[in-house]
Amino acid sequence: MPHRPFLRAWAAAAFALFPGLAALPAAARDDAFKIGLILPMTGQQASTGRQIEAAARLWMAQNGDTVAGRKVRLIVRDDTSLPDVTRRLAQELVVNEKVDVLAGMGITPSAMVTAPLATQSKTPLVVMAAATSGITEASPYVVRSSFTLPQVSVALADWAPRNGIRKVVTLVSDYAPGIDAEKFFSQRLLFNGGQVTEALRVPLRGPDFAPFLQKVRDARPDALFVFVPSGAGAAVMKQFLERGLDKAGIRLIATGDVTDDDQLNGMGDGALGVISSHHYSAAHPSPLNKKFVLAFEKANPGLRPNFMAVGGYDGMRMIYEALKSTRGAGGGDALLAALKGQVFESPRGPVYIDAQTRDIVQNVYLRRVERVNGQLYNVEFDTIEGVKDPGKSR
Ligand code: DHB
Repeated sequence: MPHRPFLRAWAAAAFALFPGLAALPAAARDDAFKIGLILPMTGQQASTGRQIEAAARLWMAQNGDTVAGRKVRLIVRDDTSLPDVTRRLAQELVVNEKVDVLAGMGITPSAMVTAPLATQSKTPLVVMAAATSGITEASPYVVRSSFTLPQVSVALADWAPRNGIRKVVTLVSDYAPGIDAEKFFSQRLLFNGGQVTEALRVPLRGPDFAPFLQKVRDARPDALFVFVPSGAGAAVMKQFLERGLDKAGIRLIATGDVTDDDQLNGMGDGALGVISSHHYSAAHPSPLNKKFVLAFEKANPGLRPNFMAVGGYDGMRMIYEALKSTRGAGGGDALLAALKGQVFESPRGPVYIDAQTRDIVQNVYLRRVERVNGQLYNVEFDTIEGVKDPGKSR
């Protein structure tokens, strides 16, 4: 093997000239690891952007901006929740900024237009908010830190018939996550001996709930099941109470998107007793969550973290862990491999990323709105452990 001594001599000379080369590969780099975080910071979904950005910055404040010797840079862009804007921003971030990871995605249409770009450029896309089941199947580079609507809806369809609710009207936003919620809730309710008697869909943009709620009043079901995206829950609650549906004996049951921690405290006593199912409550009683909520509220006075914040916080943890696994080297496929299968304790409880589906597996909680220390919270009273997305075809 005559070339070996030559190689050794070359290496010795190289290390003598450039001592930094002897260290980890990442230490020789000065280029930052870039996370392109695309969020709705203005418009109807602005609370999603505000929550996720605050949580991502909290993660970095707590864990530093250097990972495995590599500087991490967060680049935040506002897509105003318009998918055409999301696509243009994602292209710019990949082509011009050469981001190592794409993240955020406030609504499903934004995630769906970004997925092909993630595939073409081999860039991991960490979906921190959008929650339609099929998003993870739109690209092998998608990994999700939020939840899915089927995952949280079936728990409520199990709870309802056990609690005297058989006849239900559903009311959902008329786009993919709403259709997921409607479908999985009603199928499961039917399986449990109940029935959805009417399925109402309201427009995503600028919805007027009043005429729909009037219909519900006339239909007199045992309960109204609602899904609307984060930010729209307070309007539904207000209209529900103003139209006297509660007085007419119709119960409101919902995914936790409706009794959103971002808005819940402002909904008033009319919200007391509303039952919802979801993966995160700011009132989750674990020590880790108590620490998270305190730190978040200290860094963002007047803002309570909601399920969007926890999706952003955990998404950042997943990216940091993946970068660590590659010893700072990064690379789309290596990062993706390191994102799959991660297991950790989140402020929401124990979670893992299913290596096959790249979706998050987590507890789903049944919660009741209660007043705690003068404030309204979703207080958890039952736990369904380790729920996989029931929407996956496999
Ligand atoms: C989606 C958006 C939301 O704000 C939410 O609460 C659930 C789902 C979505 O578009 O996927």
